Amino acid sequence: MKRGEEIYAGKANTLYKVLDDDGDVLPYVIEMECTDRISAGDGVRRDVVEGKGYANNLVSTLLFEKFAENGVFTHYMSEGTTPSSKIVREADMIPLEVIGRNFAAGSFCRRYGVEEGRAFDPLLVEFTYKNDEFHDPLINCDAALAIGLIDDDEDFNVIFEYMDIINKVATEFFKELGLTLVDFKVEFGYDMATDKVMLCDEFSQDTCRLQDEHGNSVDKDIFRRGESDEEVSEVYQKLVSMLEAMK
Ligand code: TMP
Repeated sequence: MKRGEEIYAGKANTLYKVLDDDGDVLPYVIEMECTDRISAGDGVRRDVVEGKGYANNLVSTLLFEKFAENGVFTHYMSEGTTPSSKIVREADMIPLEVIGRNFAAGSFCRRYGVEEGRAFDPLLVEFTYKNDEFHDPLINCDAALAIGLIDDDEDFNVIFEYMDIINKVATEFFKELGLTLVDFKVEFGYDMATDKVMLCDEFSQDTCRLQDEHGNSVDKDIFRRGESDEEVSEVYQKLVSMLEAMK
């Protein structure tokens, strides 16, 4: 298996075609490289954080394997051709960001004037329409269905069921490292080969909030707050060290 031509470069990840040993493109399969690129504020602030791609790929791979063991159909297939990449099922992406919140933080507090840290049980789920032109507005299931962002009402049932499993698995995973999962964002798509709803993209420090026992952030919030490159890099390395210590 070899890496083929680039298909798409997102803010943090780049997608490539995958070739077989004869150089022919393999159908329904792509390679996803987690890069060191980092951005915030609708992509207005951009930087490069050494080691971030490796860290994100590592944590995301470990978690996606656990999600699959617990019944979530995911895009993950195998390791990729570099330490920061993986081979995944190709998806027709659903343009929704699906946010799960265990505790109030970030935009939720700003939007509703709620104090940080208020607990939600069961998990509070929100959807935003992934669209840079409209700045990813909040959307509900009826509107997402009405404007054709998702094919079928039933697909939301799968997403809500998966969100519950994803949250339980990830909460337990980070708890073992002494970290609290405050909130997270995931994305879903339709598997090109089977049309089934599947978990895509990533679950990493770029896409969730984690706090250590002192309430310190161990995630991309460090970058969002404008801390130095060294401090941002340290936060990604910290999780890698914790995971390596656990092996
Ligand atoms: P928020 O509080 O800013 O809405 O973020 C909620 C969670 O979603 C948080 O863990 C960060 C994550 N997130 C992303 O991964 N990408 C995004 O573009 C945004 C806005 C949030």
